[in-house]
Amino acid sequence: MALATVLYTLLALACTPLAALLLWNYGVPVLFHALANTVGTTLGWYLRKKTDGRRALIIRITDEDEKAHAANRRSRSKSNSSSNSKDSSSLSDKSWENIEKKSELGTSHNGEKGSSEQDWDGIVGFFHPFCNAGGGGERVLWAAIRATQKRWPKAKCVIYTGDHDVNKEKMLIRVENTFSIHIHPPTVTFLYLSTRHWVLSSTWPHFTLLGQSLGSLVLGWDAFSLLVPDIFVDTMGYAFVLGLSKVLFPQMPTGAYVHYPTISTDMLDSLDPTNKAVGDKGVNAGQGVGFRGQAKMFYWRLFAATYSWMGASVDVVMTNSTWTQDHVQKIWGPRRQHRKQSHPIAVVYPPCAVSELAAQIEVDAKSEKRREKVLVYIAQFRPEKNHTLILHAFAEFVASKTQASEGAKLVLVGSVRDDTDSKRVYQLRLLVNELQIKDRVIFQLDASWPDILMWLSKAYVGVNGMWNEHFGIGVVEYQAAGLIAVVHDSGGPKLDIVVKVDGEPTGFHATTATEFAQGFEKALSLPDPLSVRKRARISATRFSEEEFARKWLAQMSLLVDIKTSKS
Ligand SMILES: *[C@@H]1O[C@H](CO)[C@@H](O)[C@H](O)[C@H]1NC(C)=O
Ligand SMILES: *[C@@H]1O[C@H](CO)[C@@H](O)[C@H](O)[C@H]1NC(C)=O
Repeated sequence: MALATVLYTLLALACTPLAALLLWNYGVPVLFHALANTVGTTLGWYLRKKTDGRRALIIRITDEDEKAHAANRRSRSKSNSSSNSKDSSSLSDKSWENIEKKSELGTSHNGEKGSSEQDWDGIVGFFHPFCNAGGGGERVLWAAIRATQKRWPKAKCVIYTGDHDVNKEKMLIRVENTFSIHIHPPTVTFLYLSTRHWVLSSTWPHFTLLGQSLGSLVLGWDAFSLLVPDIFVDTMGYAFVLGLSKVLFPQMPTGAYVHYPTISTDMLDSLDPTNKAVGDKGVNAGQGVGFRGQAKMFYWRLFAATYSWMGASVDVVMTNSTWTQDHVQKIWGPRRQHRKQSHPIAVVYPPCAVSELAAQIEVDAKSEKRREKVLVYIAQFRPEKNHTLILHAFAEFVASKTQASEGAKLVLVGSVRDDTDSKRVYQLRLLVNELQIKDRVIFQLDASWPDILMWLSKAYVGVNGMWNEHFGIGVVEYQAAGLIAVVHDSGGPKLDIVVKVDGEPTGFHATTATEFAQGFEKALSLPDPLSVRKRARISATRFSEEEFARKWLAQMSLLVDIKTSKS
């Protein structure tokens, strides 16, 4: 009887509109969530079972390779008693010691844990389907793997790649030659994905953004059917794969290194014609009108919401610059907060050749006397680099006839890749004539690295004229070489690179030709240029290989922490 009353009351309650609303608002999502959870973890369990054999195999082969490698080393050093072990890596053993010392300071909580962490021997899966592209993203991947190997010598690094035509040996040789990064072979394994065409833009002529992202789910499934790692890291921007991994393996820590957000709030805003700030810029400017426009807007909004859901699932997020961090924070941040992701999105600058420049170019009182009144602009001859602006500025500077401008020269260093480039150079030469600065401007086309080094060691000022450049490796190189930077007041050069050190400037920012001319004047009439050069050099160390390794390891330690505290 009592039971019947309770049931009746419940039923009556359930029929009230309020209860219905509550059920709809909370019940359905909760039910859906529970269902998705069960399906996800069941599939995850299936994948684990399926790939257990390969896991055991990888561990065994790594072990054997490690022994063979050690034996090989011993016999080599015996036969060659002078023992010049050829580790041509860009980082010396000494600098690795420093990195380890520094990064431990930041992360270990107590001694005991620190040592067991050091011995961590799990498998880190790096999702990088396009390994052989040779670009900046690949450099990050290999530098990250090298750092991980040094810190956790027993950990295994598995790379999911779609480059079937390159085997491990060839790939590691290429990495050594292109990036001068020496990878320890035994603990690296390549797993080959067979479904890479799913993420090519050519597969998705319509709805490319969504198509590629859904395609990446197939690719992700492909990866996990090869092996389920202990920690999963995406280094190419496949946020959907990270989301998938959380659904399948909720306990597995995930990390993302983001070079570029797949969709940004700028893109969303640019569709809106009433938005004054960006409404008239970009290829999609003001297209959000009419039915098509509305549909497009809806599609992008939907995509952005899904993307942010995926991004919020990631445990540790790194971005390659402040610019990217800003955008990722805008689109992932709110939902990450909602999901109580405690680790802030960290900027981990990609490694630049800072140490090499610092080693080759002196910055001291003696070298100061060798510097000439040369302004150097290293950039490809592309329109957005705005050489025209710099030429006008330089002409204005020369025309000012100040003491600083006397005898000053401008050197344009850049490669000419094709006909359009040479046409552009021709146009620039015409402009130089017209501005009557012909005897003051030098075109150094297709310069070799030694040529570039020569200009960097001899010049006084480094120039950059591009609006909103996302980063600007060239500007980092100016700083590493001790040049005083006069750069565009926007993007990476402003936000990341030419910033104050110890509260003192490392260079000058400008937007118009006149401001650039003033910048040149200030740079060439500094009372104590050497101190600015020294600061610039300190500023550049933030982008060095060592700094990358240190920052990477700090983030990677978080992932290892999550892993070891869960198991
Ligand atoms: C970050 O990645 C984007 C996309 O590849 C690139 O344009 C930008 O220059 C990168 N930033 C740095 C600091 O390398
Ligand atoms: C070059 O700079 C000038 C002056 O700031 C600007 O008006 C122009 O649009 C720029 N050109 C390009 C190609 O960015």
